[in-house]
Parts: sequence; C-alpha cells; structure tokens
Amino acid sequence: MYLKSLELKNFRNYIGLNLNFNKGLNIFVGENAQGKTNIVESIYYISSIKSHRTSRDKDLIKWGKTKTYIKAEVVKNFGEIIMEFLLSSEEKRAIKINGIKKTKTSDILGAVNAVIFSPEDLKLVKEGPGIRRKFIDNELNQIRPKYHYALSQYNNCLMQRNTLLKSAKYSDSIKYTIEVFSEQLAEYGSFITEVRNEFIKKLGLIAKLMHRKITDGKEELEIVYQLSAEEFKDKNDVKNKLLKYYTENINDDISRGITMKGPHRDDLLIYINGMDARMYGSQGQQRTAALSLKLSELEIIKSEVGEYPILLLDDVLSELDSKRQSFLLTSLKEIQTIVTCTSLNDLNSYHFEHKDVFNVKEGMVKKLDI
Ligand SMILES: Nc1ncnc2c1ncn2[C@@H]1O[C@H](COP(=O)(O)OP(=O)(O)OP(=O)(O)O)[C@@H](O)[C@H]1O
Ligand SMILES: [Mg+2]
Repeated sequence: MYLKSLELKNFRNYIGLNLNFNKGLNIFVGENAQGKTNIVESIYYISSIKSHRTSRDKDLIKWGKTKTYIKAEVVKNFGEIIMEFLLSSEEKRAIKINGIKKTKTSDILGAVNAVIFSPEDLKLVKEGPGIRRKFIDNELNQIRPKYHYALSQYNNCLMQRNTLLKSAKYSDSIKYTIEVFSEQLAEYGSFITEVRNEFIKKLGLIAKLMHRKITDGKEELEIVYQLSAEEFKDKNDVKNKLLKYYTENINDDISRGITMKGPHRDDLLIYINGMDARMYGSQGQQRTAALSLKLSELEIIKSEVGEYPILLLDDVLSELDSKRQSFLLTSLKEIQTIVTCTSLNDLNSYHFEHKDVFNVKEGMVKKLDI
C-alpha cells in the first residue's frame, strides 16, 4: 500500500499542508525543529490512531487552536481509501473512512499499515523489556484488532487491581474484589500470551534469515519469548497458571502493592551466536539485530495483510554505518518509504525508480527539483 496524498490543518507546527507522495522514496530534508517528524507522526497516527511520541491527542493540535484535521488518501491492492481524522481539545475525536463515520477502534486499526523506524528503535535490543513489549504490541495492534481490545482491557484491569492491592493493606474484604480482577487478568492475559507467542515464533524465523543476510552468514540470531508466566501448553494452561499464581501469591502482591506476574512483565530474549545479545552483544551487533527485527516486521505485515506497509524512517539513516544503510535501502524497492534527514548526503548514491525530495522549513514544505 502507499500514501498518495496527505492534508494537515493545524497539526503541530503546520497551519495547512497538502502533499502528494510517490510510491517509492519520499525524502523530507531540513534543519532541526522545522517539522519533519511532525509529518511522519501524522502518517503514523493514521495507522495506529495514536502518535508514536505522545499519548495525548491534544499535543498534536497547533498551539492556540482547538482542533486539528488529518486527511490521507491511501492506495491499497483492492483500491483507494480516504482516511479523515478530526481531533479536538474539547470533543471526542471523529474518524471517517471513505466518508463514513467510524467509532469502533477495530474498524479503523489496520485500515492502513505503517511501520516507524527511528533512532530509538536501534535501542530495541539494548534497553529494558518495556521497549520490546511496545515493539510487539504496536505491531499486533495493527494486524490483530482483537489483540488491541484485549490489551487495553488487560491494562485497565491491571491498573484497578494494583490500586486495590495498595488499599488491601488496610481492609481484608477488598481481597474478594481483587479476585474478580485476577480472573479477568488471567482471561485477557492468556489471550495476549497466545497471540504474542505465535507472533514471536514467526518473527524469530524471519529475523534469523534477515540477520544472516546482513551479517554475511557470520551471525545466528535467535529470538525467544520469555514469559513471566512460565512455560505453557496452550491458552487454557496459561490462564490456569496465572490464576493459580494470583491466588497463591495474593499476600505478596498486596505487600508490594503491584501485580508481579502477567504479560506486562513479558520480554523477548535475543541471542546472537548463542549469547545473550543484551548482555554480551557489542553496540554494532545490537543495532544490527534491531535492524533485522524491524525489517522482519515489514515482512510479517506483508504476509498477514497481503501487502507491505508504509515505512517511516525518521532520522535513522545517519545512525547506521554505510553497510547497514545500504542493506536497508536496497531492501526497500517494493516498499513506499518516507524518510526524514538533515542532509541528503547518505541518500544521493542510491538509485530509486521513484524518488522525490521535499524541503521542510518552519512548517512549510517545498518540493525540490532533483
Ligand atoms: N502542538 C504544536 N503546535 C505548534 N508547534 C509545535 C507543536 N508541537 C511541536 N511543535 C513545534 O514543531 C517543531 C518541529 O518539530 P519536529 O519534531 O517535526 O522537528 P524536526 O524537523 O523533526 O526536527 P529534528 O531534526 O530536530 O528532529 C518544533 O519546533 C516544535 O516546537
Ligand atoms: Mg525529527
């Protein structure tokens, strides 16, 4: 799929913007703080109904205004779709697809797929488990609407259970209410675990091949799902194990004031040539593994959805050495890519059938003759 046009009104530092994209490489070049990431952010929003850098819609509205509007025309295998988003600081957001109002998240997520790759993602292997869970969740939210629902229900239950755990120190009767939430956590949690497990298996296979290619066969990458809920056979088994844990360890959870087990504690273990890459990998090896994982994400979407997502490369090229840059750019021939950078140096040597360059300056965008 590819983004054909984008219209922004009062989005971040844009008063009004109308852009046409080609289906290959679209480069946005400009100095710092001019509005490059803002464009990428609006495109990511269309795919995920959330920004990649804020959880509050109102941050996206131009300062001093009360509403922002995003409109995108996207060409997919079966035809074109028009997505419209009206976000307001005073009312609920309104979303239309092909002119028809949509209120169910599951009807909107997955209509357009986009993958974002920014310098932050290069830390995917190196940093704590939170960033790896986010990586899995962001991907699954786009391709599995039921997952998005289960995860938000799980997070709600978790928050409520944790609040109750904190008050249970002072009142024993709260334990019964906690049990209700434990039951729901186990139910949603087991579904999340099952979907994550299936996804990680697939990711592991693709990432292994990708990593062999980037390292000329020198490194074997292995991805393992590390559960906070131990080994399991199937969804029911996870549910029973979680429930058992919640029941047996309720006093521990109460004394800590948090729920110690469940998908919110899961992690991905990443091995290079049999060694834990997070502990023993060099910075370069960790970054290469992160690149393998991100590129595998594109392949998984292709296999699930039937077409490649839109790829957003925000400031990431200058962070990669020439070998990895070249691997990335040559993998992208069939994928619409929107790149931001502060200089064109890194990109000039690559040939693309479709290539446009836009200059971004103080919330204005000008197409350059190349
Ligand atoms: N809600 C908002 N209203 C108006 N301006 C905003 C809003 N949010 C952010 N900005 C401004 O948008 C500008 C551009 O931000 P953006 O992150 O897109 O820059 P950039 O071109 O990607 O820069 P860099 O190269 O440093 O990443 C910033 O100067 C910021 O102050
Ligand atoms: Mg930026």
